[in-house]
Amino acid sequence: MDRIRIVGGAELNGTIPISGAKNATLPLMIASLLTDETLVLDNVPHLADVMLLKRILGNHGVDCMVQGKRAGQNGSSGETIELSARDIVDTVAPYELVSKMRASFWVIGPLIARMGEARVSLPGGCAIGTRPVDLFIMALRDLGAEIDIDGGYVVARAPKGLTGARIQFPKVTVGATHVAMMAAALARGETTIENAAREPEVLDLASCLLKMGARISGAGTSTIRITGVDRLTGARHSVMPDRIETGTYAFAVAMAGGDVLLEGASAETLQAPLDLLGEVGAEVTATNEGIRIRRNGSGLNAVDVTTAPFPGFPTDLQAQLMALVCHARGASRIRETIFENRFMHVQELARLGADIHLDGQMATVHGVDRLKGAEVMATDLRASMSLVIAGLAAEGETVVNRVYHLDRGFERIEQKLGNCGATVERISG
Ligand code: EPZ
Repeated sequence: MDRIRIVGGAELNGTIPISGAKNATLPLMIASLLTDETLVLDNVPHLADVMLLKRILGNHGVDCMVQGKRAGQNGSSGETIELSARDIVDTVAPYELVSKMRASFWVIGPLIARMGEARVSLPGGCAIGTRPVDLFIMALRDLGAEIDIDGGYVVARAPKGLTGARIQFPKVTVGATHVAMMAAALARGETTIENAAREPEVLDLASCLLKMGARISGAGTSTIRITGVDRLTGARHSVMPDRIETGTYAFAVAMAGGDVLLEGASAETLQAPLDLLGEVGAEVTATNEGIRIRRNGSGLNAVDVTTAPFPGFPTDLQAQLMALVCHARGASRIRETIFENRFMHVQELARLGADIHLDGQMATVHGVDRLKGAEVMATDLRASMSLVIAGLAAEGETVVNRVYHLDRGFERIEQKLGNCGATVERISG
């Protein structure tokens, strides 16, 4: 199993190209199931989750071709992939595949809408929380699907097609908003999604669906209106920049000090974290090329943060923020409201000397002057990067084990950080 070795203490200076967003790429790839024509996606990041989804879609009969250069060979631009679901050969998404990645459950939306049936394995629990699928089932039932749970599978049927409806989510859910939007795009009549997720990735999916001929308004707000169409067509769409990768490297620069341009990053999708970086003591400037982050010798300030759906502070940056404030003056409070078990990085950060007290969903972090390198274990995707960030400022050597978590959502971190002066290397095996 690969490990990442970091020698702390160096400032970061230079440019980090921001990749296409993992959490936009996944639903965009899944949207290819909605049409028998080709969907071309540009700026696709080279990530383990993307590779896995190619396999999952392949199982349904989607032909996936990769064009052009691999990410890394051409600055910040990722791969171009062509997805063609001309013939859907199987409407079953099996346990072996769905259990590896929760987002693959989302195929249920396009499959039921286009094929009138789907049998998709329950994704099951995941390390960061129980993550049920009740709201997906609610939305699909609202659209007229009959749903049963059978042998660990969600079995959805709509032999006469789906019908537009009013879907009112009792809580904000990104995944069920994506699924409801995709399913409603091919339903008969009007659908209104209330309390929809406002995450920029929902807007990116809607933009692509519009290019495919869908009729959608209001994406990016909490009310989305969709008028169903008989069929969707092929289209070409470029994946939005990854706001979580952007935030992660911004926190890394704030931690290590230095001056870095996050090339291609978009400030509008990241206002809450960027405001917070200002509070912590970093200088943030949005430029035409991206976002520039600077911090010179000055110390870091403690903060009080609660995670929330967009436009609030994202849960996907909570672990990275925690690493940063391990070095702040005074006590920071971080409250996690989205997932009930997203504090597994706490005990790993403690190995580096962090002083963190957990009380339910609230973590209190007392800043320490000095972190010291140690061997640590990545527990989930974003938690892995919090350990890398802490390692950048720790004295001596930090080794992060179980890097496969990190490879699911961050590409070429050794190269991206290494080019800015950090000592970060992958140890294979
Ligand atoms: C998406 O997950 C992201 N994944 C997550 O990113 C992100 O943390 C999360 O949204 C919140 O922003 C992708 O986009 C691929 P939710 P998703 O449905 O859609 C509850 C990362 O690190 N809920 O918005 O699965 C759920 O348990 C990942 O890249 C129900 O109760 O999250 C949670 O408490 C991890 N019933 C809350 O809603 C349901 O049927 C929000 O989850 C569905 C969700």
